[in-house]
Amino acid sequence: MGKKININIEIVSYDQLNDLSKEDQELLAAAEKATFNAYAPYSNFNVGAALRLETGEVIVGNNQENAAYPSGMCAERTAMYYAGATHPNAVIKTIAIAARKGEDTEFIPISPCGSCRQAMLEYEVKQNENIRVIMKGDDQIFEIHSVSDLLPFKFTQKDLFE
Ligand code: THU
Repeated sequence: MGKKININIEIVSYDQLNDLSKEDQELLAAAEKATFNAYAPYSNFNVGAALRLETGEVIVGNNQENAAYPSGMCAERTAMYYAGATHPNAVIKTIAIAARKGEDTEFIPISPCGSCRQAMLEYEVKQNENIRVIMKGDDQIFEIHSVSDLLPFKFTQKDLFE
């Protein structure tokens, strides 16, 4: 019989925006706003992401689709790679994510896709500091303390070099 290893992660759920800090509320608003600049003519699924850097600066991204479907890019990675390209040494404290279907004005909470989790994890490992993830819906908001919690049993640079 094999030994079982259980991994516990903590997800904090809020049903009121006011229960979050002003800073987080601002970041969520930036993620929501970014959904309106998403280029999603194929899926009609508009995603916005907003990163808070330790400097206080906010960086946004949104999904950018392509007629060659796999060439498109998710909101989270657009924002992360932009931060990596323009602020290579800044610590990323938090990423806020919001999504909206088509012309809907209602925001739904979504959890980042597997590829985005892996990309976000790279930066978390690089900066050796956790990145909080906040997912915004109109009725519910979820918060996770680190990207690592979203990707347990992960593959990182340690596996390559140690
Ligand atoms: N998408 C994101 O931008 N982030 C996610 O976490 C999930 C999916 C995008 C990719 C594609 O443009 C559309 O949403 C539908 O999958």
